[in-house]
Amino acid sequence: MTVLVTGGAGYIGSHTCLELLGQGYEVVVVDNFCNSSPEAVKRVKALSGKEFEFYEADVRDEKALGDVFRRHDIGCVIHFAGLKAVGESVQMPLRYYGNNLESTIKLCEAMKRAGVNQIIFSSSATVYNGENAMPLTEASRTGDCTNPYGWTKYMCEQILRDAAATEGLSVVLLRYFNPIGAHVSGQIGEDPADIPNNLMPYIAQTAVGRREYLRVFGSDYSTPDGTGVRDYIHVSDLAKGHVAAIQYCQKHTGCEVFNLGTGKGTSVLELLRAFEKAVGKPIPYQITERRPGDLATCYAATEKAAEVLGWRAEKTIHDACADSWRWQSMNPMGYGK
Ligand code: NAD
Ligand code: UD1
Repeated sequence: MTVLVTGGAGYIGSHTCLELLGQGYEVVVVDNFCNSSPEAVKRVKALSGKEFEFYEADVRDEKALGDVFRRHDIGCVIHFAGLKAVGESVQMPLRYYGNNLESTIKLCEAMKRAGVNQIIFSSSATVYNGENAMPLTEASRTGDCTNPYGWTKYMCEQILRDAAATEGLSVVLLRYFNPIGAHVSGQIGEDPADIPNNLMPYIAQTAVGRREYLRVFGSDYSTPDGTGVRDYIHVSDLAKGHVAAIQYCQKHTGCEVFNLGTGKGTSVLELLRAFEKAVGKPIPYQITERRPGDLATCYAATEKAAEVLGWRAEKTIHDACADSWRWQSMNPMGYGK
């Protein structure tokens, strides 16, 4: 089967393409490189030993998208394309609503015209309301997002839920917790365009000497060591979750939502220590103020994905740190310009 992967040059998309190719799927990728590099596509081809069609295009470009659907017999779409920087979304809300909502709507319309009805969407744990008890189940309350990025995910989920109900789409919404790590080869990984906002790339860039020290945002949370606790999931496990979602999509109609996490909470200092172990040297850090909008703790209930998709995360944070360090040390400046 051929899978159309939007945003397939990005961090999670590139790892998922590699997994799909390894499992015998054909892939077609559309990406406008607004937050990624052609080098990632080149490396996925080299690692997989397979060729695939790549289209440098904006998902909002109706004509380009229509051509892709005409040229290929697409069975299923995985929609990764979107803007994802929380802080930037606060500065430029219209850019975020415009890109993330319009790309999703245009994609669904193009799918409908082409008679393609299966779509897997990259949602986020950020759609959950901050007042929920842990672990977060798929039935936990959503909404009251704290930033425009979160709202775009919330709204896209609703758009897709409605499209499944009335337009005959078969939709799987995947709510990722905190993706980290890199492919075990060290050839592909996360390559933030600017100063990283997220913890793992910041630690990795500090370890490689690009940043002076890590700022630990608060040590007075009610968590075992006082620092924030998150559910860090290896990107290669996440990629496998998408293959499980495709298989689910083949057999079901309607709209279903799954958490993709490990179910295990890890604190900032625990992740830092695990990374230090992978690097074999201390990484400088300072405790600073809390970051506004941060929760103390966030982790997933994983039973639904295990029972319905037959998928569970397998890798540990130690695997993720070793793989991230391999990627970062082999590619200190990421994919380069
Ligand atoms: P990424 O930025 O590395 O990948 C997104 C890709 O989409 C990039 O290659 C970018 O160039 C492309 N893109 C964006 N808008 C486009 C458009 N209009 N047309 C064509 N291409 C476009 O991000 P990622 O970390 O790989 O995330 C993938 C998806 O998962 C995103 O939708 C993101 O919001 C979601 N997500 C990510 C995380 C995370 O922590 N990384 C967590 C939850 C959800
Ligand atoms: C953030 C976003 C969330 C998004 C997710 C994945 C915010 C408020 N939330 O989640 O919407 O879905 O990324 O992209 O931005 N930390 C430090 N120092 C740092 C960076 C982070 O101590 O330099 C801490 C944070 O306080 C948190 C943990 O590390 O406790 C993880 O932070 P991060 O990687 O940014 O992820 P989230 O906050 O979970």
